[in-house]
Amino acid sequence: MSKDIIVAIDGYSGCGKSSTAKAVAQALNYTYIDSGAMYRAVTLYLLQHNIDPAHLDEVLNALPQIDIRFVTKPTSTPPIYETHLNGENVEQTIRDMSVSERVSEVSAIPQVRHAMVNLQRNMGAEKRVVMDGRDIGTNVFPKAALKVFMSADLIERAHRRKEELEAKGSTATLEEIAENLAERDRIDTSRTENPLVKAVDAIEIDTTHLEFDEQVEKVITLAQEAMTTNYTKL
Ligand code: DC
Repeated sequence: MSKDIIVAIDGYSGCGKSSTAKAVAQALNYTYIDSGAMYRAVTLYLLQHNIDPAHLDEVLNALPQIDIRFVTKPTSTPPIYETHLNGENVEQTIRDMSVSERVSEVSAIPQVRHAMVNLQRNMGAEKRVVMDGRDIGTNVFPKAALKVFMSADLIERAHRRKEELEAKGSTATLEEIAENLAERDRIDTSRTENPLVKAVDAIEIDTTHLEFDEQVEKVITLAQEAMTTNYTKL
């Protein structure tokens, strides 16, 4: 017998969490939820409205104006996942370096985190979700039946991110990208509110020397095991 579960995938910036989570969700016929996209959408909103993330009162006034939804087109191959900010598709814009440079700062604001965590818990209420982020296994769904913690060497991550950004026309250099990743790792792991940390019961996958298909296959196998064994978990 097998049951519906939540698959929580956490880890450092740029180690392939999102692409892995999407492929796993597709294979399991689960919904993919990109929690980082939510923090990116908040950051984009603040930038668009010239709100400095350091001005907490302005950030708090802005929060109720921000509506974030995911629009999935599962029938496309591969499925299309779009992040919508107040009705507008911002899936590409939220990946810009201008957003990446401020997102860790924005996501360290406790009130922003509370709002996003509430949304994430609602989205996972029916289970059958694969959610990736930094605190999914430790904070959003501490009882998730499968928790994966992904890591990879910094320079390897920067190379992968550079390829992705180049495909979108970005000219950011390897050094700039590596610096941004390292700085985000630093802020994400050192913030007081739910920092990035491996959950004690998470299974670590170092993807430095893994092919994409191998890491996807590993997570699918773990998910199938969790569906048939972890009966006390979500
Ligand atoms: O996964 P990503 O790189 O798109 O995430 C962008 C930022 O959002 C990342 O630097 C840290 C933050 N984040 C977070 O604090 N908690 C999450 N669950 C997901 C992302």
